[in-house]
Amino acid sequence: MNRKAVPFLAFSVLLLLLHSQSSVCNRRKGHQYERYHWNTRNSSSRSGEFREVFNWKQLDFEFPNEQMRRQAIQSGAFVEINSSMPLSLEADSTRLFVSAPRWRQGVPFTLTYLPLPGADLKRVPTQSSPRLKPYPNAEANRQGNCDGLTSVFRMSADNCNRLWVVDTGRVGAQQLCPPQVIAFDLQTDAIVYRHRFSQESLLCNSQPTNIAVEYKAEAQCGRGNNLDAFLYVTDTLAYAIIVIDTSSGRSWRVSDKSMFPNPEAGSFNVQGVKFDFMDGILGLAIGPPRYYKNDRDLFYNPMTSFQHFWVRTSRLQNENATTPSNPQPFETFQSGQWKRNSQSAGCGISSSGVLFFGLVKQNALACWDTSKPYTTENIAVLKKDDEKLQFLSTVVVDRMDRLWALSTRFQRFFTNSLNPEDVNFRIFSATATEAVRNTACYVPTLGEGPMRGSA
Ligand SMILES: *[C@@H]1O[C@H](CO)[C@@H](O)[C@H](O)[C@H]1NC(C)=O
Ligand SMILES: *[C@@H]1O[C@H](CO)[C@@H](O)[C@H](O)[C@H]1NC(C)=O
Ligand SMILES: *[C@@H]1O[C@H](CO)[C@@H](O)[C@H](O)[C@H]1NC(C)=O
Repeated sequence: MNRKAVPFLAFSVLLLLLHSQSSVCNRRKGHQYERYHWNTRNSSSRSGEFREVFNWKQLDFEFPNEQMRRQAIQSGAFVEINSSMPLSLEADSTRLFVSAPRWRQGVPFTLTYLPLPGADLKRVPTQSSPRLKPYPNAEANRQGNCDGLTSVFRMSADNCNRLWVVDTGRVGAQQLCPPQVIAFDLQTDAIVYRHRFSQESLLCNSQPTNIAVEYKAEAQCGRGNNLDAFLYVTDTLAYAIIVIDTSSGRSWRVSDKSMFPNPEAGSFNVQGVKFDFMDGILGLAIGPPRYYKNDRDLFYNPMTSFQHFWVRTSRLQNENATTPSNPQPFETFQSGQWKRNSQSAGCGISSSGVLFFGLVKQNALACWDTSKPYTTENIAVLKKDDEKLQFLSTVVVDRMDRLWALSTRFQRFFTNSLNPEDVNFRIFSATATEAVRNTACYVPTLGEGPMRGSA
């Protein structure tokens, strides 16, 4: 049960197969698309431009006071080199949330945040290295507090001002607390929902990692204690989507071959650091509710894979349609023809339906306009940087349509060769619209998106 790779599932990276630079171009009737070339865009004057906002050699955390910090170091509750592997990002208008899973002993806080000076990215200073503050507070992050948080993998903030968090409950390979999903009200920072996974919804090697949320009536934002939503949670090690109906408290597993790791993608090479890694479904993003009435696309990808997949959420919602003896019809789980030549760790989607994802092998960030076919000409590489864009463990788009990407030296952490003197972590931001301007991913009909007024 105990896999060597257990701790590191959290990334799924898609690699785009680009036959040549000129293959990523597009021309649509009525709209001019420039042929895309690497490193030729010049938009330094735009406020929503992709830029590095935070970076660190090693992570540091803000304790309630200096004495508690010293105590944590003495007791081994804070071990700098062991806590230096953030995984995931989310944001509301004034905070950027950063998760730090307890893959090893010595991570003082597993869910943290950095204050932002407001929704306007222009005001975020560049290349600072602030200490991470515990969210919602230090006590909720205390290891051993099973009413709090043990090991947060991924998060998702919704349009109803809630932050949904997946906690594996593990420290290293030890299951310290039950795995759970928690929702915080971002207005009050109070816990407004908690689901502890039932034994029936887990297999012996399950590891819940990522979450997407769909309210039954989005405009009402859920009611009462149960919030009236479907939660879709990736089970990275037992290869399934766990569906939770918050109204009934029931949950069930949906599994398909597309959620398994592909052995052909099992060898990773990041800047010459090689390792084998077999993780299933990890990247997850729910499409905007505009294509179908009362239905949405859920996009996903295994970490060890060269493809993205998607499924209509309505197909996941009937618990009786998904039993092993009653498999889903063949066409339920879909994929495009195109295959990346690289793995991908995570993906995020904008309000106009543009999916953003990292390419592990290419040290690059790419996009796909999901209203078009998943084919080479509809996918663009937006940025590539062999130094700064290594291992994009997370790419997310927040509710204000701001893109955030986290680059880590995961390959070095995983192989115990992290160099504390290197800049090991970088966070980038951009407005989603600005990031794709003049590329195949630009969606003219939705124009500037919600950030229009603040640019
Ligand atoms: C890019 O823009 C900057 C500022 O507007 C300008 O100084 C620079 O010459 C431009 N570079 C290219 C390659 O056009
Ligand atoms: C770092 O984590 C490993 C694995 O959890 C643990 O064995 C080791 O003692 C930790 N290092 C320190 C200095 O505590
Ligand atoms: C699923 O099957 C159970 C047992 O047969 C039944 O009680 C339940 O109502 C069914 N659920 C749906 C959504 O049809």
